[in-house]
Amino acid sequence: MEHASLKEISILITNSFANRVDRMKSSDIRELLKLISADVISFTGGAPDPDAFPSPEDLRDAIEYILSIRDKAFQYGITDGLPSLREAIIRFMERQMSIKAELRNVLVTIGSQEGLEIVGRIFINQGDKVAVGLPTYLAALQAFNLWRPKYIGVPVDKDGLNTEILEELVRKHRKTRKPIKFVYVVPTGQNPTGTIMSLERRKHLLEIASSYDLFIVEDDPYGFITFHDNIPPRIKALDTEDRVIYMSTFSKIFAPGVRLGWVVANETVIKQMSLAIQAINLCPPNFNQYMIQYFLDRGLIDRNIPRIRRLYKEKRDAMLMAMDEYMPREVSYYRPDAGFFVFAYLPDYIDAKKLLYYAIDKEKVAFVPGRSFFVDGSGYNTMRLSYSLPKPDVIRVGIERLSRVIREHLK
Ligand SMILES: Cc1ncc(COP(=O)(O)O)c(C=O)c1O
Repeated sequence: MEHASLKEISILITNSFANRVDRMKSSDIRELLKLISADVISFTGGAPDPDAFPSPEDLRDAIEYILSIRDKAFQYGITDGLPSLREAIIRFMERQMSIKAELRNVLVTIGSQEGLEIVGRIFINQGDKVAVGLPTYLAALQAFNLWRPKYIGVPVDKDGLNTEILEELVRKHRKTRKPIKFVYVVPTGQNPTGTIMSLERRKHLLEIASSYDLFIVEDDPYGFITFHDNIPPRIKALDTEDRVIYMSTFSKIFAPGVRLGWVVANETVIKQMSLAIQAINLCPPNFNQYMIQYFLDRGLIDRNIPRIRRLYKEKRDAMLMAMDEYMPREVSYYRPDAGFFVFAYLPDYIDAKKLLYYAIDKEKVAFVPGRSFFVDGSGYNTMRLSYSLPKPDVIRVGIERLSRVIREHLK
C-alpha cells in the first residue's frame, strides 16, 4: 500500500474540519507579531511590562510556600476554583472595588479570555444579537464569532459606549423577532480606545438593561490601571438586579503568565459556566491559584497596584507628549486616563493597514491597524498604539518615527 503524502493528509484534515472553524481567524495582531524583528519599536500587543510583575523575592517565597503544600498544589482542583482563593477574591473585591459577592457567585477562569469564550458558548445561538462598541476588543469578537452572533455596533466616544444610541438600537431591535440579548462593554480603559465610560452612562446602561430586560457583560482588565482618582465605580458595583456578568483578571495586576481571572455573576450563570469548564479544562491550575492566594492573603497585590499605576502613567504621559509634539495636526487621538492604549484617527484617505507595512519596513515601528476592532467594517483609517511594554524613551523615538511615516502619506 502506498503511503499518503504529508500534503494529502493535510488536505484530508482540512476537509474534515467542522464548518465552524471558518470563524476562527487569527487576529491581525498575532499575524503582525510574527513580522516584527527585534529592531522594530512595537506598539502592537498589550503585553504588561515585566517591571509590573511581583518581585523575584516575593515570588521565591510564594513558590517555597507552594512546595510546602505540594500534595494539594500539584493535584487536580475544583472546577469553580479553590474556595480559599475565591474567598480571597471576594475580600479583595470588597476592599478595592466595592463589589459584594458570595462564594456561589464567583468562579475562577483561565484569564478573562476564558470567561469571554464561555459567555459565547453558553449564551449565543446563531443569529443572536449582541451589542458591542464601535470599536471593541478584538479577542472578545473572536470568542463570540464561533457561535455566529449578529453584532449590533454602538459608537464609542470619549465617555465610552454611547448609551443614548444603544437605547435607540435596543428599541429598534425589540420590534424584530430577535431583540438584543446582551451588551458587551469594557467600561474602564477600553480596548482599543482607552476611554472611561462616564458614571451617567454606566447608570443609563443599567437602566436600559432593566427596562428592556437584557444583561451586561462587563470586561474589566484595566479597572486598576487608572491615572486619576475620579474613576466611576464598576458597573457591577452599581448593579442591584444581578444583571451584570463581571469579569476581571490577574494579568495586569500580577502577571499574565499565571493565566488566571475571575467572574462574578448570578448563581445560575456561574453554575452553567462551571458545567462548560468541566468539559474544557476540568479546573483552573491549583499551582497558579495557590500562588495568587499567597499574594492576596498578604496584601501584596493591593500594595503593588499604586506602583503599577505610576509605571503605566509615566508611559501614557510619554506617548501623549510625543504625539502632541510630533504628530501632524491631521491626526486626532483620545487621551486615555486608564488602560494600555492610545487610539488614533488618520485622515480618511490613509489606510492604516497599508501604512503599517511601510512603517515596519521604512521606519521600524509597528502598531495595530484599527479596522478589526470595528464590527461594521469601518475604522480602516484608525490605529491602536500600545504603550504598556516599551520604556518611555523608546516610546518617544517610536512616535517620532511613526509621525514621519504619516507625514509622508499626507496629501
Ligand atoms: C479588554 C480585554 N479583555 C480581556 C482580555 C484578556 O485578558 P486575560 O485573558 O489575560 O485575562 C484582555 C487582554 O488584553 C483585554 O484587553
